[in-house]
Amino acid sequence: MDDRIALDFRPMTPSPTSASTGVSARTVPLLDLRRQYARIREEVRTAIDAVCESQHFIFGPQVETFERGAAKFVGAEACVGCASGTDAIWLALAACGVEPGDEVLTTPFSFFATISSIVRAGARAVLVDIDPDTLNLDATAVEARFRDSFSPRLKAMLPVHLYGQCADMDALGRLAADHHLVIVEDAAQAFGAAWRGRRAGTLGRAAAFSFYPTKNLSAFGDAGCVTTSDPQVADRLRRLRNHGSEVRYYHEEIGGNSRLDAIQAAVLNVKLRHIEQWNEERRARAATYDRLLAKAGLAGAAQTPLRLLRTSPEAYHIYHQYVVRTAKRDALRKFLADHGVGTEVYYPVPLHLQAPLRYFGYGEGSFPESERAARDVLALPMFAELTEPEQQYVVDTIAAFFS
Ligand SMILES: Cc1ncc(COP(=O)(O)O)c(C=O)c1O
Repeated sequence: MDDRIALDFRPMTPSPTSASTGVSARTVPLLDLRRQYARIREEVRTAIDAVCESQHFIFGPQVETFERGAAKFVGAEACVGCASGTDAIWLALAACGVEPGDEVLTTPFSFFATISSIVRAGARAVLVDIDPDTLNLDATAVEARFRDSFSPRLKAMLPVHLYGQCADMDALGRLAADHHLVIVEDAAQAFGAAWRGRRAGTLGRAAAFSFYPTKNLSAFGDAGCVTTSDPQVADRLRRLRNHGSEVRYYHEEIGGNSRLDAIQAAVLNVKLRHIEQWNEERRARAATYDRLLAKAGLAGAAQTPLRLLRTSPEAYHIYHQYVVRTAKRDALRKFLADHGVGTEVYYPVPLHLQAPLRYFGYGEGSFPESERAARDVLALPMFAELTEPEQQYVVDTIAAFFS
């Protein structure tokens, strides 16, 4: 599962044992979308109402406005709305020419859709391990892999901007150019993130975004989009998302039904106006965690119980997730849950060990960094409206666990 568990809004009950930690009991959810909704309720209701009044639910002005606005925001020539981030990856790969029998290089440490979309495009996934400091695809390992063996079938590279931080697009871009590979970004977690001032969505031939409700830019259901500055790719995307058809009932190829619907686009149009501020607020919350964890002696120095991820100086990180690492992850997670703090593990099983992908021939030990990350990462509560007292409670509870 991805961040889906965060949609369970049942209030968490802090255990009465909170008193034993000396920390006053409260609850801090992993994500509270209701607080975001409270900030934009009237705008969203007006926008949805306008769609209801128009009775225009498929394509139409809301979708066109969103596509123009999102393209402008990321700095791409075109944005093609679609039904989900999963579809967006498949559409992007297919529109960039990935065909059955091709190979696509990606990371073993991502949500399942990254790899299932490669398989759905008919291609084979070639995996390379992650950088232990950022948990993104390790460019040095990719280079080593290319030195050892380079398959002429390798057509594309699919870096994932995990947790909202861009992968090393300088090094990966160079490697892709040297080997004539197309880059498709899995930017599902990275709307507004940037590398050297260029936003995710412009760092390859095409980029896939997810607007699943828990994402930093989110719809009221499933939605996604692909951005590109290649007009041919954009045309093909528009065709593929709509049954391979440009003129109704005339089909040029096999596509699918993966349209962005007008109600989702109306919600996204409202949120697009706020996303820059919300991303800034997430960055401020992340800086607060860094400060509070360091002050509590939990992270930020040698010999502390938690290890933090490195933020590359080139990256504008939008902290879709704030993740810490500890060998005591499962016990810490249970302790936090018992004290009312929501957390999640993204991801407990690396892709090469997922049951349907065993046929790729990888096994335990194939990608040690990804396997280690799967054992020790923990995402803490993170959303724009999180308050400092809530963050202090999270940090105090972690400190109580390690005391
Ligand atoms: C890295 C990554 N890729 C792809 C997806 C798939 O997006 P969706 O859930 O919108 O299909 C997600 C999110 O769920 C994701 O986090």
